[in-house]
Amino acid sequence: MYKATLIPGDGIGPEVIRAATEVIEAAGVKISWEEKLIGQSAMAKYNNPLPEDTVSSIETNRIALKGPSTTEIAKGFRSANISLRQRLNLYANIRPIKTIEGVNTKYKDIDLVIFRENTEDLYMGIEHMVGKDAAESIKLITRDASERIASMAFNYALREKRRKVTCGHKANVMKLSDGLFLSSVRSIASKYPDIEYQEMIIENLFMKMVMNPEEFDVIVLPNLYGDLLSEMCAGLVGGLGLVPGVNIGVEAAVFEPTHGTAPDLAGKGIANPTAAILCGVMLLNHIGEKEAADRIYNSVKRVIREGKYVTRDLGGSYSTMDMTKAVIDNL
Ligand code: NAI
Repeated sequence: MYKATLIPGDGIGPEVIRAATEVIEAAGVKISWEEKLIGQSAMAKYNNPLPEDTVSSIETNRIALKGPSTTEIAKGFRSANISLRQRLNLYANIRPIKTIEGVNTKYKDIDLVIFRENTEDLYMGIEHMVGKDAAESIKLITRDASERIASMAFNYALREKRRKVTCGHKANVMKLSDGLFLSSVRSIASKYPDIEYQEMIIENLFMKMVMNPEEFDVIVLPNLYGDLLSEMCAGLVGGLGLVPGVNIGVEAAVFEPTHGTAPDLAGKGIANPTAAILCGVMLLNHIGEKEAADRIYNSVKRVIREGKYVTRDLGGSYSTMDMTKAVIDNL
């Protein structure tokens, strides 16, 4: 029996996370879930968006499955997600973006993995007003953080027999901050002569991604560009309901879908559970339950390929739990 922290989150979080735990259980892997709160639900109960109790549970269990949490726009408390990533030093956000047969998209063979630096850049939230009509944000980039995300990307490329790593940057304008990121990635790239290494100014990378996404493989990016690019790439493979992810460091791994709380769908039971279920697949692979992970992944692919019991974003009319049941039935 494994032990892991479960954070259902806000909005559609509890609905899709429940789908993931039910599928894991049906696949025969026993996990004792320690349920904890974050974001708005934690605020409502403890007046604290990131309770210590939640952080220490993840520290102890070292594995968590997490739904999205609400962060108010341009006001309110600081994003609990970002605080959590910094507190636990979950320095890499890894998002695999892969075409799933049966999803109606323009692209056929996308298979790429984004490695996004997860602890610094403009997302540190160091900002202040300068008088009342100007605001300043500080973009902090360090060599250590840039090298460790690059190392993780190259190690992954080597282990998974990937052919190429692309680094995105804007070092032509931000010569010091993005310049440091770029030189750090370059220094790691030089240790992996067998892996093709490519650099691209970020807007060019976005343009090429829309035109020929099949040409990309492993991509390493600073925090902000990584967030933007991974969400755009989710659109290329059929939407946010399909893309899983993990925030990972040395001490812990927090698996969470790329999507947010989807306020437009929350409470209706119609969100696509695929991203959350695939987070479960990533979690199972992480703990060595490969056979169960493969069975779940194959079942998800089959349900989507058959296109019968799928949610609205995939052109169907079924609910989150109907689609989850179909995945379980196909295991
Ligand atoms: P969002 O990802 O919640 O929604 C964007 C669009 O994608 C919406 O049209 C939504 O209906 C659709 N969508 C998202 N997940 C889906 C699913 N599973 N199935 C079908 N359609 C899905 O992003 P938005 O609206 O920008 O943010 C809403 C809230 O989520 C904000 O409070 C934001 O801070 C939070 N958020 C939290 C994240 C996290 O906790 N990791 C990540 C991103 C946003």
